[in-house]
Amino acid sequence: MRTVSRIAVIPGDGIGPEVCAVALRVLDALGGEPFEYETFPWGSGHYLSSGRMMPAGALETLAEFDAILFGAVGSREVPDHITLWGLRLAIVQGFDQGVSLRPARLLPGVRGPLADRAPEEIDLVVVRENTEGEYSGIGGFTRRGLPGEIAVQTTVYSHDGIARTARYAFELARSRNARHLTSVTKSNASPHASVLWDEVVAEVAAGFPDVRWESLLVDAAAARLVLAPQEFDVIVASNLHGDILSDLTGALTGSLGMAPSANLSLDQMRPSMFEPVHGSAFDLVGRGVANPIGMVLSVALMLDDLGLHHSGDRVRHTVAAVCADGVLTPDVGGDSTTEQVADAIVAALEG
Ligand code: IPM
Ligand code: MG
Repeated sequence: MRTVSRIAVIPGDGIGPEVCAVALRVLDALGGEPFEYETFPWGSGHYLSSGRMMPAGALETLAEFDAILFGAVGSREVPDHITLWGLRLAIVQGFDQGVSLRPARLLPGVRGPLADRAPEEIDLVVVRENTEGEYSGIGGFTRRGLPGEIAVQTTVYSHDGIARTARYAFELARSRNARHLTSVTKSNASPHASVLWDEVVAEVAAGFPDVRWESLLVDAAAARLVLAPQEFDVIVASNLHGDILSDLTGALTGSLGMAPSANLSLDQMRPSMFEPVHGSAFDLVGRGVANPIGMVLSVALMLDDLGLHHSGDRVRHTVAAVCADGVLTPDVGGDSTTEQVADAIVAALEG
């Protein structure tokens, strides 16, 4: 008997609900995979009516699930640091989702922003450390509201946090054809955190003699991603560097709307969370043109994580075929609506 996978769905704000609806249609269209969903109406609306982005005890509720599908968070009415720390980052930190996995593949049929780049030249994965660095939340204000007020935001890196991220990235590189890894830091300007990062990555690398690897400064990496994206396979980076570079790599695949992500709880003791990289995108809300591909590819990452690799591959192949047929939303040069893209994916899965 197959076990049922229990999925918590948090559509959230902005275009989150529009793309989450597509995710559930795709899961249903797979047929044969037993899923149970429960949807939680948390986000900025919940904050405006209750003063909290999610209720007390929400993490205990979510801990009962096998995975979390997340749409987006952020609204014009509530400051970003409240929406993000009250929901998304509370889940990432609370469940110790230590790695954010962000694949970037230029799909046939999609025109990327770089001239003359074939799809096989842009096929990489950003492995972003996900709980430390600038996102540890440590710091404070002094002389708040007075002239000369001061804010301190501390970057925190631990040997363990770097090592588990690096191990994950090297294992991933080992499983891919190119078997290449680029570690991104800023050790010239950041002589503590980045230097520890470099040391630990070198230590971990010693256990992976079959993976070629190099270390690159983040500014140089940004330039090289544009000039020679084909030189990258797996990129491992700190939280903030990974955040910035994964917007760049998403853009290289044609649009941030194409970019999926997985926040992985590496010890598998708590659910991981799967979400598109794009965020709320206020300007697109309610227009029916949000690109659902980032969300659908995040569903594929969730299927992989649940051990359903065959279904994950089916979703990726179907998305690639639908894009190759030119069924694309306006952000990637097409004229299809969210629903038309969803219909094409669902029809191909069911056909
Ligand atoms: C992302 C986003 C978030 C991050 C923001 C919204 C806090 O940019 O998922 O990349 O930086 O983690
Ligand atoms: Mg980001």
